[in-house]
Amino acid sequence: MTHATEGGSLIPTGSGVIDAEHSSILDLLSAMTAGGPVGLAELTALSHEVAEHFATETVEMAVLATDRRERHEQAHRSYLASIDALVGTAERGAPVTSDDANRLMLWFIVHSNTADTELVEAARRAGDEPPMISMDEWLDGLDEADRDALRS
Ligand SMILES: [Fe+2]
Ligand SMILES: [Fe+2]
Repeated sequence: MTHATEGGSLIPTGSGVIDAEHSSILDLLSAMTAGGPVGLAELTALSHEVAEHFATETVEMAVLATDRRERHEQAHRSYLASIDALVGTAERGAPVTSDDANRLMLWFIVHSNTADTELVEAARRAGDEPPMISMDEWLDGLDEADRDALRS
């Protein structure tokens, strides 16, 4: 199995808020994959943190085309379902292994480096749209007769 740290490292997306949230989630995942406990408390904390983070990204997704937004939301739903399935395993007292945690970490790094980077870039480009240019200012430079004719 590819260990999460060999699958690549987390690359900053360029959004301060999203990167800070990614880094907190990665801390939780790193503790689990570095031999720390992977129990109900850790998985529940992860589930909450990830759900809050996905809510942050959902707000940013307004700039995405519908199909891309739906694909990204679907990826989030499926990841949360994987975490919640492990929460259920831990609740039943069954073991959750470091391999399970490793898989969660791999997905998280790959998703952050691809879909999230794309999202931040789309949001940045949307903010770069040129300002509306008012026709009034241009008309102000014309003779009064032309101006009135063009404005009417
Ligand atoms: Fe993210
Ligand atoms: Fe995402």
